[in-house]
Amino acid sequence: MSVSVKAVPKTAPIAAPVSEAVELSRQLLKAQEEERRRISRELHDETGQALMVLRFQLELLAGETQSEEVAAKIREALDVLDRTIEGLRRTIARLSPRVLEEFGLLTAIRRQAKLLAKHTGMKPRLELPENWTPADHDVEVALYRSVQEALHNVAKHSQAVNFTVRLEVASEKVTLQIEDDGAGFSRRAAHIRGFGLTGMRERAAALGGLMRIRTERGKGTNIQIQLPWAANGRKQNATRGLQHASLK
Ligand SMILES: Nc1ncnc2c1ncn2[C@@H]1O[C@H](COP(=O)(O)OP(=O)(O)OP(=O)(O)O)[C@@H](O)[C@H]1O
Ligand SMILES: [Mg+2]
Repeated sequence: MSVSVKAVPKTAPIAAPVSEAVELSRQLLKAQEEERRRISRELHDETGQALMVLRFQLELLAGETQSEEVAAKIREALDVLDRTIEGLRRTIARLSPRVLEEFGLLTAIRRQAKLLAKHTGMKPRLELPENWTPADHDVEVALYRSVQEALHNVAKHSQAVNFTVRLEVASEKVTLQIEDDGAGFSRRAAHIRGFGLTGMRERAAALGGLMRIRTERGKGTNIQIQLPWAANGRKQNATRGLQHASLK
């Protein structure tokens, strides 16, 4: 009996089908969200609690000491501790999408925008749908994380006066835009530095969506994320998603 064996080139690429790769990165993102949730819970329940106990004990000491010098030192320590607790709270809030889960996407977006406006003095503009039917949880987390990162970038890099967050729902897709009228940037800058934009692009792609960036030096930045969208948590097939687009 003769068996014919097809020659396989030694350099044959070992590549997973596109749908498998998309599914894999979707799973990775899920695992990453789980891990963030666990870390934020531990920071809250362990580190946060320990700092509060420390605070309580320092206050007791401050009340008991007769020495003005010691009291002043304890007040200094309390100041440092309060700043640390405040920083820890911000870290916990960034790590965990609890606002999203408790109050929904629109409130989570409003809060992010309000925080940015408060810390930078920039003028916010929100264009959000009047009614938002909760979407697939992964899509909501992706939108929330993208707003977080894009607004963080606006604060860190743009020196803008105004910024806008726009969310639009059409029949089968949702479009998120974060726009500012600040410094803009060049294609080179985006490739050399940072993980933020790359992470956003990968997150969108994992859900069968795309990200577009329009920017020019001195003329502001517009980040657009489009994702396949289905109301009430009905999942869309990620591989049936939108075409990839790149930096324009
Ligand atoms: N809104 C913006 N205005 C001006 N420049 C921006 C804006 N968003 C991004 N950039 C530029 O694009 C680069 C890449 O952004 P990205 O978010 O990927 O990285 P990063 O913010 O530098 O670092 P990381 O997000 O990892 O903390 C930034 O370093 C900055 O030069
Ligand atoms: Mg960034």
